[in-house]
Amino acid sequence: TVHKVGYLIGSLAKESINRKLAKALVQLAPESLKMAEIPFRDLPLYSYDYDADFPPPAKAFKKALAEVDAVLFVTPEYNRSIPGGLKNAIDWASRPYGTNSFTRKPSAVIGTSPGAIGTAVAQQSLRSVLSFCNSPQMNAPEAYIQFKPGLITEDGEVSDKTTEEFLRTYMEQFATFITRVYTAIPKETV
Ligand code: FNR
Repeated sequence: TVHKVGYLIGSLAKESINRKLAKALVQLAPESLKMAEIPFRDLPLYSYDYDADFPPPAKAFKKALAEVDAVLFVTPEYNRSIPGGLKNAIDWASRPYGTNSFTRKPSAVIGTSPGAIGTAVAQQSLRSVLSFCNSPQMNAPEAYIQFKPGLITEDGEVSDKTTEEFLRTYMEQFATFITRVYTAIPKETV
């Protein structure tokens, strides 16, 4: 079965290493996954004052989430948590009350950092948020990628074979996880 996956890149930086990682993941994903970025940089800072009438970027963001079968988070760690921009995007997606975009939408979390912890602390924080948002999360494999210069090129080429194989397996496992979620609970019925 073909599944659409929307991916959110937690970093807004031009030279983002997480953007490079996302590029690699798109290339290594099995054919059954149709990958597309869901951008969030144009979202204003969320307030529930907007709930009565979401601005166009927020409507577009929620529509994009509604159109995918699963969500992949590729995020850096900022001060041992997720970047504020990503949290803001999740807050938009979760509202207005009763229209939470993540409910029963399978997700996976991955990230890279030059530090040895490889975004592990940010990922735990994100998992807690996604739990509250009722997203079924792929628990394993976990992926904490320590970024060394040249590990992934601008074109998303992974220079280290072991890492490349690991990332390929990660995406295959995500495809399996998504299929399992929709097999257990057919989409038509939720
Ligand atoms: C960081 N960095 C960082 N790294 C880490 O492993 N744990 C952390 O808590 C933090 N905190 C942090 C805060 C802020 C505000 C910045 C700008 C950076 C370093 C970070 O991993 C590095 O800048 C990466 O390059 C960020 O990923 P992107 O944005 O290049 O994808």
